[in-house]
Amino acid sequence: MNRFTWHGHATVSIETSGHSLLIDPFLKDNPVSVTDPESLSPDFVLITHGHEDHVADAADIIRRSGAQLISTPEITGWFARQGIDNSHAMNIGGFSEFPFGRLKLTPAWHSNSLPDGSYGGMPTGLLLELNGQRVYHAGDTALFSDMELIGEGGLDLAFLPIGSNFTMGPEEALRAVELLRPGTVVPIHYNTFPPIRQDAAAFKASCEAETAARCLVPEPGESFGI
Ligand code: NI
Ligand code: MN
Repeated sequence: MNRFTWHGHATVSIETSGHSLLIDPFLKDNPVSVTDPESLSPDFVLITHGHEDHVADAADIIRRSGAQLISTPEITGWFARQGIDNSHAMNIGGFSEFPFGRLKLTPAWHSNSLPDGSYGGMPTGLLLELNGQRVYHAGDTALFSDMELIGEGGLDLAFLPIGSNFTMGPEEALRAVELLRPGTVVPIHYNTFPPIRQDAAAFKASCEAETAARCLVPEPGESFGI
């Protein structure tokens, strides 16, 4: 069993067999987050892309916790220039082995740059194998038909953006569920700011009426196990 906490926006903590992972930390300036960044001490910080709403608290948390950063070379290089060099650079393609399990970076249709305007390379999603479960965090992305490939082999859980404007909206996320065929879906990247306001209860209702997936809608800071 793995334990997941959604902190609002795209920020997710995962506890898995003695390891803790933190994805896209955006906490202090996140209007919906109730999590104090100081309360998190992850072993690994995973970054899907360099936008401010995905890296905002990463440097502080990594410095304090000594976590290893995992992301693309452009992102780890940007953090290295701030003195953070405990990192593992990888790119979209195949799985890499880590103490917590396996990670593959997947394509994401989005843009990418760092908060200071530095080149960010390709944005990514994350496909994790943890304790025999497969978990997909889509990052910021539009809908793309190769999501069908990501779902091959089975998915236990998928974190999918539904906010629209910057990413998929609810209609595209519903198509994504059809392509990915996950056991459980958790909508993310919505209601943080006015342009991405969405009705997650309505998304859950259509998801469960039109697909075989169960949809969980946690409150920011809420944990669940699958
Ligand atoms: Ni973004
Ligand atoms: Mn974003």
